[in-house]
Amino acid sequence: MKAWAVLLLCAAVYAKHEQYAGWKSYYIGPKSQEQLQSIGSLIQKFELDVLSHANIEREGVFLVKPEFQNGLTNALEEQGIAYRIHSADVKASLDLDDIAIESRRRENLARKGKESPYDNYPNLDVINSYLADVARQYPDRATLVSGGNTFEGRPINYLKISTTNFEDESKPVIFIDAGIHAREWISPPTVTWAIHKLLENVTEPDLLERFDWILLPVVNPDGYEFTFTTTRFWRKTRSTDQSPISNSCPGVDGNRNYDFFWNTVGTSNDPCSDIFAGSRPFSEIETRVVQGILQENLHRLALYLTMHSYGSLILYPWGHDGSLSNNAFALHVVGVAMADAIAAHALPFFPRYVVGNAVLAIGYAASGAAEDYAHLIGVPLSYTYELPGLAGGLNGFHLDPIYIEQVCRETWEGIVVGARRAGDLFVP
Ligand SMILES: *[C@@H]1O[C@H](CO)[C@@H](O)[C@H](O)[C@H]1NC(C)=O
Ligand SMILES: [Zn+2]
Repeated sequence: MKAWAVLLLCAAVYAKHEQYAGWKSYYIGPKSQEQLQSIGSLIQKFELDVLSHANIEREGVFLVKPEFQNGLTNALEEQGIAYRIHSADVKASLDLDDIAIESRRRENLARKGKESPYDNYPNLDVINSYLADVARQYPDRATLVSGGNTFEGRPINYLKISTTNFEDESKPVIFIDAGIHAREWISPPTVTWAIHKLLENVTEPDLLERFDWILLPVVNPDGYEFTFTTTRFWRKTRSTDQSPISNSCPGVDGNRNYDFFWNTVGTSNDPCSDIFAGSRPFSEIETRVVQGILQENLHRLALYLTMHSYGSLILYPWGHDGSLSNNAFALHVVGVAMADAIAAHALPFFPRYVVGNAVLAIGYAASGAAEDYAHLIGVPLSYTYELPGLAGGLNGFHLDPIYIEQVCRETWEGIVVGARRAGDLFVP
């Protein structure tokens, strides 16, 4: 590269994450239920941004603005809650992430002649081109659908994969989505990898014969794009029609927007909050598209997975109050089977998955989540995956891009087992 190009690249990288100058991130490790609950109030008091949920004996990761760092560490010390620095300079860590992603991008280009939708953090164009490419290449079994256009006019694309054109009503349907929370970059690649395994490299042909599949890698394309161009830790949609102040504070937390005890717990009425529930249930086109898929296929939906990060958790309903559904035993057993399959293929330094009810596992209740809504309307097996994403040799902020395909591969092992179990339990 010419020297001027290096300079330009460095300048662009330097300017990019300026809004996080002075921010730090902390690991916080509660040792008891009481400490876990205290963290809940610290989140409110110090406007902590939860990047990875804490669990008893498992550290969470929290992003903290400069003005709250002293207050937070004082409060943690007073209460005897263990903490340590995750990144002392969030902006610098994000700059390192960008360099690692760019270098992975070039390697893939050199090796495969194109950018990979699952061997790096892929931008929206890479994902959309991939969906269009495989739909063209496998017209007998893959159909590209645009579920609707977002607030900013981007299509919400998904693939329907079927050997029988979705016409065999006796087949169970499996639906997997990702990327409703824009910044959770590890989640879309796990879905594009599932597409790869169902079309391009079929090692489990029974999964194609037995099931119809719906795979939606980016539920929230507006937010996702915004995390690449502007604000790395953006979480919500980008709508500005939800309140009079939505122009200065756009967006709704999609995973608080479903019609399940909507806006009753773990949500906010403040449009500037990251957990703003919106003006009404399903105010967002993004959640309406997912709702439409769930409703349209409800009579034969056997398994719904919604991919998030981070935490290495497999969570099941009910997430608003920690009570168990009448299908809780099956939810737990299939959840553990998925976690075991993942563990058998995980790298040793990746954390083991914890399986449990959403509230009991993370000590935090929230209403309006997709997994709860799907289960409420009748999907028997419905889970939120919190993928691994901060493990490993940490130089930048996030999981090094060299491990993304590893996360995809091990997650696929969980999907395989989940699908087969769901098929066995399926009652048409
Ligand atoms: C398909 O996946 C298997 C198992 O990971 C691998 O050994 C094989 O090389 C792959 N084939 C292609 C065509 O990518
Ligand atoms: Zn999430």
